Amino acid sequence: MTKTPTNFASLYTEALSDTTWTVPQNYDACFNWVYDTGRAGMMGLYQKGKEFQWDATTRIDWSQELDEENPQQLPEEMLPIAGMDLYKNMPAKEKAQARRHFQAWQLSQFMQGEQGALICAAKIVTQVPDVDSKFYASTQVIDEARHVESYRMLLAKFGVAYQITPPLRELIDQTLRDSRWDMTYLGMQVVIEGLALAAFQTTRDYAQNPLAQQVNAYVMQDESRHVAFGRLALRDYYPQLTQKERDEREEFLIEACYLMRDRFEAREVWETLGLPVQECVDFQYNSPLMKTFRNGLFMRIVPIVKDIGLWGEKVRKGYAEMGVLDYADTDVEALQKNDDTIARELDARRDHIRSTIQAGIAAS
Ligand SMILES: [Fe+2]
Ligand SMILES: [Fe+2]
Repeated sequence: MTKTPTNFASLYTEALSDTTWTVPQNYDACFNWVYDTGRAGMMGLYQKGKEFQWDATTRIDWSQELDEENPQQLPEEMLPIAGMDLYKNMPAKEKAQARRHFQAWQLSQFMQGEQGALICAAKIVTQVPDVDSKFYASTQVIDEARHVESYRMLLAKFGVAYQITPPLRELIDQTLRDSRWDMTYLGMQVVIEGLALAAFQTTRDYAQNPLAQQVNAYVMQDESRHVAFGRLALRDYYPQLTQKERDEREEFLIEACYLMRDRFEAREVWETLGLPVQECVDFQYNSPLMKTFRNGLFMRIVPIVKDIGLWGEKVRKGYAEMGVLDYADTDVEALQKNDDTIARELDARRDHIRSTIQAGIAAS
């Protein structure tokens, strides 16, 4: 496996048609002369944001390797085509190739989404009127840069990467173009971060590979603060809006959820591997196991949406139709606590391994 590419773009399965992407913006940069940091919850989050900074190059041991056959050592059934005859009949080498490509595709989307989060967090710093929110969002900017850095390093170990998918790009584009400050939170902090958290959790909890576990657990430790930030900011703001304004948000929200559920497919992988794309996509869409995985992606979004007060009929009906309404009662704070505990446990395990190695060196 390739380790440190001098040119990341060379890892892409297809040549880039453009090395940059620009999204036109139309919003005001907002200064605030009052310097009021009155919200204890927001300032508490800012304090945590400062205290929990970490360095991806030292907290994670990058000399750890991925598995040759199954990079993150994930259960086979997590590959969407695992139940298809065409996969079952593949020689072992091709199966390994399919696992490597699908995992790289998924991590690539994490990395691309993280760059979206980086840009959105910076936009929030500029645009949001409250000083305490500006303070907190500034810690998120460095968090997101570190996440891009971590996934980039992990993907370099795969030796293959995928470009951003059209639906993710469309959602980031819509989120950034909107000139209303709360829409950046709604699109990025609630929808994209919420989906990402659930996806990271699946990898963190099922991957047997220590490097993959660490990257996902440490990123999640930060992400749960980001979701809490969106929740705090919007919970205060949405009750002040008119019903019509709230309806507009609900419409955007439910459309974004459908977009990510129905159009976020790994087509690019099946294409690259030379498999019948539509057959793979249809299988993935109809397989009960994949349906369960897809619904699980909403575990972190639904309770937040309810909490921020975008809980009108349209949203409830949409979530009921998607089969994810039951997540409304998820205990988000318990999940966040657990994200923190798992990351700390991995730190303890890593420290134990390091000190054992050092003691061994000293004794020899
Ligand atoms: Fe992130
Ligand atoms: Fe984030």
